[in-house]
Amino acid sequence: MKNIVVFASGSGSNAENIINYFAKSATARVVAVFCNAKNAGVLERAERLNVPSELFSKEDFLTPLVLEKLKNYQPDLVVLAGFLAKIPADIIAAFPNKIINIHPALLPKYGGKGMYGMHVHRAVAENRDPETGISVHFVNEHYDEGNIIAQHKVALHPEDQAEEIAAKIHRLEQEFFPIVVEEVLQKQ
Ligand code: GAR
Repeated sequence: MKNIVVFASGSGSNAENIINYFAKSATARVVAVFCNAKNAGVLERAERLNVPSELFSKEDFLTPLVLEKLKNYQPDLVVLAGFLAKIPADIIAAFPNKIINIHPALLPKYGGKGMYGMHVHRAVAENRDPETGISVHFVNEHYDEGNIIAQHKVALHPEDQAEEIAAKIHRLEQEFFPIVVEEVLQKQ
């Protein structure tokens, strides 16, 4: 059994989807949810799904504490699912090619600091792009710049606003993110 640790800062719909997907798997399971925001919906979801959660502050993240806690769960893969802080260098060094992130756009477009959630969807809507999508990539020390593992696309209508784009992205994430996580684990 391989161990997945999910990092999330927000609502946690991706975290829940991944937890449920691997609850039926014979090869991997989500062993913990790490969260840096005390009011994040993901904490409630983890509790309801009986997955332990670890809440830490911005200050904790700059100390070795989070890495120590993470090591206790012996993760084979760390999955960032709507996690909005930069991963410190010591954690990246401790888990080479074992940290992946989902980004709600077709990187390298719409990546970088400050490009998350609705900020991304608004930018895509303003540019009237004919398509958008999701990117899953390895995490390195630069925001959204690690090697891309998989991308899935969806067509846009010229009249799509940020809310419609967000809904299309949500559907792609629900369908494909757990499968990509599984494929990464299989290749390890
Ligand atoms: C997801 O759409 C994810 O792609 C995005 O945050 C959302 C989290 O939703 N991530 C980023 O923007 C990272 N730059 P969730 O909390 O419901 O899973």
